[in-house]
Amino acid sequence: MSKEIDSGVRRNFYGRFKGQSLTKTQVSFLHSDLKALSPGSVSLEENPERLSIDLKSRFGQNPIWLEVGFGSGEHLLHQALENPNISLIGCEPYINGVASLLGKINKSGIQNISIYPGDVRDLFDVLPSGSIQKAFLLYPDPWPKRRHNRRRFITPEYLGSLARVMKEGGEFRIATDIEDYFNKAIREVQRFKFNITNNGAANSCVPWKDWISTRYEKKALREKRSTFYLTFKKRVTSSFS
Ligand SMILES: C[S@@+](CC[C@H](N)C(=O)[O-])C[C@H]1O[C@@H](n2cnc3c(N)ncnc32)[C@H](O)[C@@H]1O
Repeated sequence: MSKEIDSGVRRNFYGRFKGQSLTKTQVSFLHSDLKALSPGSVSLEENPERLSIDLKSRFGQNPIWLEVGFGSGEHLLHQALENPNISLIGCEPYINGVASLLGKINKSGIQNISIYPGDVRDLFDVLPSGSIQKAFLLYPDPWPKRRHNRRRFITPEYLGSLARVMKEGGEFRIATDIEDYFNKAIREVQRFKFNITNNGAANSCVPWKDWISTRYEKKALREKRSTFYLTFKKRVTSSFS
């Protein structure tokens, strides 16, 4: 991976950074388009002091939504097209996925997506508190072996940071095809200033009205796995308490 697209953050990351060889067009997108789509100085190299990035000067007054691990970006693109007055930040360390999304952005001419091609924990470091109005975690890596569970997103390391950067009243959506992940998410997310809003298992098999199926969901459905959709809201703390 080239220097420019390597976040360089010194954290353990257990996923893949790169898969098949990229096409010439994808490489040219990565070199020509990615920098302009950055949400600000996120990586350790660019921002060694981990100062908060100035989202207002980048996005104005637009509400900001975040998609963690967007894969090939089909859901991110869909939300951006449907919500032109929202600024969406997508975060994905798998560079083939980033290249794929850049192709879609280039083709559609969409203007309201920015991309951090790295680990969401780098982004959490520098996002201002209360800056994100909606966050999506769609088919996160399941890490099914018990000894690998601590690599999951639904751990205190990630959830504590997410809770900090989310606005009060902001929405956090999770889709998963792993029942154990679903059950754990219901328990764990609520320990981090979120309340579940879709009554646990009662209607968790119904996708959101504005949903578009992702690549991983299609795979899960082909393999006859059930899918679960969870919605949480960040608690509002009364100023009188
Ligand atoms: C199972 S895939 C799902 C991709 C996509 N959301 C979908 O539904 O098709 C999980 C994605 O999360 C990304 N991911 C894993 N750890 C991450 C992290 N710490 N920060 C950002 N993305 C991460 C992976 O690179 C991978 O693309």
